Amino acid sequence: MKASDLDRFCAGLMPERRTPESVDGIKTGEGAKELRKVGVTWTVTNAVLDKAERLGLDGIVTHEPTFFDHHDSAESRTASETARAKQKRIDELGLVIIRLHDCWDGYPEYGIGDATARVLGWTERLEATDIGRVFRLAETTLADLARDVADKLGCPNPRIFGDPATKISVVGLCWGHTSLGSVVRCTEAGADCVVVGELAEWQGPQYILDSGKTMIYAGHCTTEKKGMETARELLEKNFADVEFIYIDVPEAFGPPVL
Ligand SMILES: [Fe+2]
Ligand SMILES: [Fe+2]
Repeated sequence: MKASDLDRFCAGLMPERRTPESVDGIKTGEGAKELRKVGVTWTVTNAVLDKAERLGLDGIVTHEPTFFDHHDSAESRTASETARAKQKRIDELGLVIIRLHDCWDGYPEYGIGDATARVLGWTERLEATDIGRVFRLAETTLADLARDVADKLGCPNPRIFGDPATKISVVGLCWGHTSLGSVVRCTEAGADCVVVGELAEWQGPQYILDSGKTMIYAGHCTTEKKGMETARELLEKNFADVEFIYIDVPEAFGPPVL
């Protein structure tokens, strides 16, 4: 399979999202390259490149960018010594990097939103959009919900906004880097609590507290990466002649120090 075939498959998952402004597509390497062993990950860190080298990969499918810029622009690849060294290493390894972002977040069943909700065990869905979901839960408290989210998603440092004893029976899920509009949509659909990846602290939490609702910051990486394990599954089902290997990226925040 050529890299361009894999990219075409990714674009076909949600073709309405593959607009000229989309960040998806081949980011490094040639579309004509034959791929036999492909990594699937959340973002291409230097540790992911180490693993790619050890495993002898010839391509990587990633949800988030490689050069610390949403579009992986030409400027971003030379903007720092770190970015320049990364580009050089990728070129030396001959890796084709394909971004699967816009055509993946809202993809049914396997995509980020549905995969994350499934891991959380949230099944009674009240509302769904490309960028958010609302679910009914058995009644719990904010503190217990935060512990459960942390446990199931593997995030050691959830941050909560609101009284830990607040009763929660409807929850919103806005994975990754979300927007105020997505959070508002959840609260106005009845969510008592919105679990987000990340959102500006002056904005989302302040809206939540003024609204008498609650919020859990679970982290961008941890609210998205389960959906790249399922990306690996879907790709494996569709390309029998290619080996797809999931490469985990740990949450960037360090362990608690206090
Ligand atoms: Fe995402
Ligand atoms: Fe994201």
